[in-house]
Amino acid sequence: MPIKMLKNLNLLTANTILTGNLRITISLLILFLISCNSPSISEKFVGNISIIPRPWKVKKNSGFFKSKHLSIKEGSIKEIELFKNQIREYYPETNLFSNKNTSNNFKITLEDQLDVESSYYELKISDDSIKIKGSKKGVFYGLQTLFQLITLNNNNVDQQLTLPCIEIKDKNTFQHRGFLMDCCRHFFSVKTIKKYLDLLSIYKMNVLHWHLTEDQGWRIESGKYPKLNSIGSWRKDSLKKYGGYYTKKEIKEIVKYASDRYIEVIPEIELPGHSQAAIASYPYLSCKDEIINVSNSWGVFKDIYCAGNDSVFTFLENIFQEITEIFPSDRIHIGGDEAPKFRWENCEKCQKRIKDEGLKNEHELQNYFIERVARILERKNKKIIGWDEINESSIKGDVTIQSWRGFTGGIKAVKEGKKVIMSPTSHCYFDYEIKSIDLEKVYSFNPIPKGLNPSEKKLIIGGECNLWSERIPNEKELDRKAFPRLLAISEVLWSKNEKDYKGFQNRVQDHYNILNKLKVNYGIEANPVNIKLKNEDFKNKVVINSKVKNLNFSYHWGDGIFKKLQEKQTLEIKKSGDLTVQAFKDGNKYGDIEIKKFAIHLALNKKIKYDKLYSESYPSEGKSSLTNGELGSLDFKDGLWQGFSGSDINVIIDLDSIIKVNNISMNFYQYINSWIVLPKYISIMSSKDSINWEKSEKIKSFGNTKKRGKFIKKASFKNLELEVRYLKIFAKNIKKLPSWHEAAGSGSWLFIDEIIVE
Ligand code: ACM
Ligand code: ZN
Repeated sequence: MPIKMLKNLNLLTANTILTGNLRITISLLILFLISCNSPSISEKFVGNISIIPRPWKVKKNSGFFKSKHLSIKEGSIKEIELFKNQIREYYPETNLFSNKNTSNNFKITLEDQLDVESSYYELKISDDSIKIKGSKKGVFYGLQTLFQLITLNNNNVDQQLTLPCIEIKDKNTFQHRGFLMDCCRHFFSVKTIKKYLDLLSIYKMNVLHWHLTEDQGWRIESGKYPKLNSIGSWRKDSLKKYGGYYTKKEIKEIVKYASDRYIEVIPEIELPGHSQAAIASYPYLSCKDEIINVSNSWGVFKDIYCAGNDSVFTFLENIFQEITEIFPSDRIHIGGDEAPKFRWENCEKCQKRIKDEGLKNEHELQNYFIERVARILERKNKKIIGWDEINESSIKGDVTIQSWRGFTGGIKAVKEGKKVIMSPTSHCYFDYEIKSIDLEKVYSFNPIPKGLNPSEKKLIIGGECNLWSERIPNEKELDRKAFPRLLAISEVLWSKNEKDYKGFQNRVQDHYNILNKLKVNYGIEANPVNIKLKNEDFKNKVVINSKVKNLNFSYHWGDGIFKKLQEKQTLEIKKSGDLTVQAFKDGNKYGDIEIKKFAIHLALNKKIKYDKLYSESYPSEGKSSLTNGELGSLDFKDGLWQGFSGSDINVIIDLDSIIKVNNISMNFYQYINSWIVLPKYISIMSSKDSINWEKSEKIKSFGNTKKRGKFIKKASFKNLELEVRYLKIFAKNIKKLPSWHEAAGSGSWLFIDEIIVE
C-alpha cells in the first residue's frame, strides 16, 4: 500500500571537532524523506545484498530503510563529496540530494582509534538510520558498499530509495589489489582511465599499475628528452601514425583522481628490455647506436638499453627525476622482464662491463643493471618492483617481485625474504581469452601457494590482474576483457579465502546492472560451448556442456546447414571432421562461433605412458589428452594443446592388442614469441611386447625457429605397414632458443595435441 504521508524521518546537526591529538569526529547529515504516493515495497522483495567483494561479516536484519531524498546539509568531507557526485552521475534522473528537509539518519563517524591506513569500516542500515564508521579510507569503502547496495536495490530511485536493513563489518585481506593497464601497445584516453579508476574503487581495488614505456611507444611527457615524445610516442601502423602520450598535467590529474579514490598509481618504466621506443628516440641508448623505428609489431625485441654505456644510466637518472616529480607513490615498477641478451653478447662496452665488474655472464649483467637502477631510485626515496626475472640473480634490498611466470618466482622470492605480488599467467592475464581464463578460474586464484610458512605467507602482499593491450585496441575491448573477471579478482584480493563459486556467480548476475550503469561493455563469463568427445556403448559421441546458464545451440558438420541442439544432447560421430557450434541466449548470439576438430583413429582412448610429464601450466586433459580425439586450434591456450617446458616428448602408446598400423601423424605448434617451438626431429619405434623395439622411423630437420607467427605443423609417417601393439613417440626439444629470443633463460616449449594412429 502506498504510504500516504510525507514524513521527515530524521534531522542531525553536523559537528566537526578537531582536537590536538587529531581526534576527528565528523557527523554528517543526509536527509531522507518518504514522500506521498511512493509505492510500497513489493511483497516478494527481500532486499539484495549481493555485494562484491563479499564483506568480511554480514548480518541481514529484517525490515527496510525507505526514503525518497538524501540531502547532505553540512560538515562535508571529500569522501562524501565523491559519493554525492557518484550518485548524481549514475542517477542523474533522481533528485536524491535535494535540500528540502533535513534528517539525522545518515551518520558517518571518523574514528582516530582506527589506524588511518585501515580499510576497516562498519556499515549499519536500520529502518530509520544509516551509519558508517571507520577511518577516512574505511568510510570511503563503506560508501562504495552503500553505492552498490543502492544500485542493487533500486532500479528507479526516482520512486523511492529502498535498502535492506543490514550490519556489515568489513576489511581487506590483501594490501595490494592491483590492475595493470598497458597504455603503450594501445593508447587509452584520460577519460577511459578515469572510468577505470571509478570501477576499481567501486570494487575496492587500490593499485593502478600503469605500464607507460614499451617497444611500441613512450607515453610520458619528458621535458629533458623531448624526442621521447616527438619520436618515441608514435609508430607507423599500416601507413598511419599511431600513438600519443600523457602530458605531465594529465598525469598529475590522473594521480590525484586515483588518490582521491584511495588508488595508488605505480608507473612502470620498462628496462633494460621493452625499450625500443626510447632507443628509436635516442639511438645512443642501445649497444649498436643505430637508428631504429618504434616497433609496430608485437613480441620481444633484441634492441635493449646498453648496460656498458654510462650515459644510459645518466638518461635513466634524469628520467626518474622527472617521473618521481609527478608520481608520489614510493614504489616504481622497473619491468625487468623479457630482455634478450643477444646485443649484450655482441657489444664491446657490455663485455667490458662484465669484465670490469667481475660478472660471470649477461644474466649477471642484467642483475648489475637492475641493482644500479635500484640505487638511483633509492637516492630518490623510491623502492622498486620488478617482474620475476629480476630475481634470477642475487638482487638485494627492499625489492618487490611480481611473479608472472607462474608462482615459482614468487615462492623463490618470499623464501629469500622479499615481498611478492602474484600475477601468474594461469589466473591473472585478462588479456587472454575467456576460453583459457574464465570467471571461475580467476575466482579460484589464491595468491598464497601451498607449502609456505607464516612469515613467508605474510610477504605475499597481494595480486594483480594484467591487461596487456596488444589485442585491446579500444575501450570496448578493454571492457570485454576486464569484465566480469575483475569482479572475481576483486573478491580474491579483498575477501576471506572461503570460496563459493555458485554463490559468487549468482551475485555477479546482479552486478550487470551496476556495470550497465557505468557503461561497461562486459564480456562473457565462460566459454559458452564446451564440446567433448566421449566413448559410450562403443560409439563416439559428441556432447556439449556449458558453464553458462540458459543457452541454446546450433551446429553443423562443415556443410553450413545449422541444426538445433540442446545442452547435454549427444551426437554420434563416425569419422574425423570439424563441428561448428554457435551458442544463443535469449535469442541472441552468445560468444563466438566455435569450431572443434575431431580425429577418429585407432589409438582413440588408448593409454599413454609418459617418460617425463607435461607442464602443469599446459596439461590439457592430462594423460588422456593425446588420444582423446580432440585437436587443438590456433589458440595455444585453448586447453587442447599439451605443453612440455624445456623437455622432450617421450611417450609410449598401448594399443591394447596387436593391430595393423599404416599411418601415424601428430600436430605440433610454434609461436616463437611465446617460446613455443617445433621439435628439432621426431622419431617413432614399434613393439609387439614393449620389450623388443623395432626399427625407428625419423623425420629429420622438422623445426624452423626463424619462422615467426602462430602456426601448426603436421608430422606424418606414412605407409608404415606395421603389426604392432606398442608405439614409442619421441620429439626432440631444441631446449635452447637462439639467444635473441631467449628471455632470461625460460627455455623452449613443445606443444602437441594428439597422436593419430591409422
Ligand atoms: C610479462 O607478461 N612479460 C610480464
Ligand atoms: Zn652494450
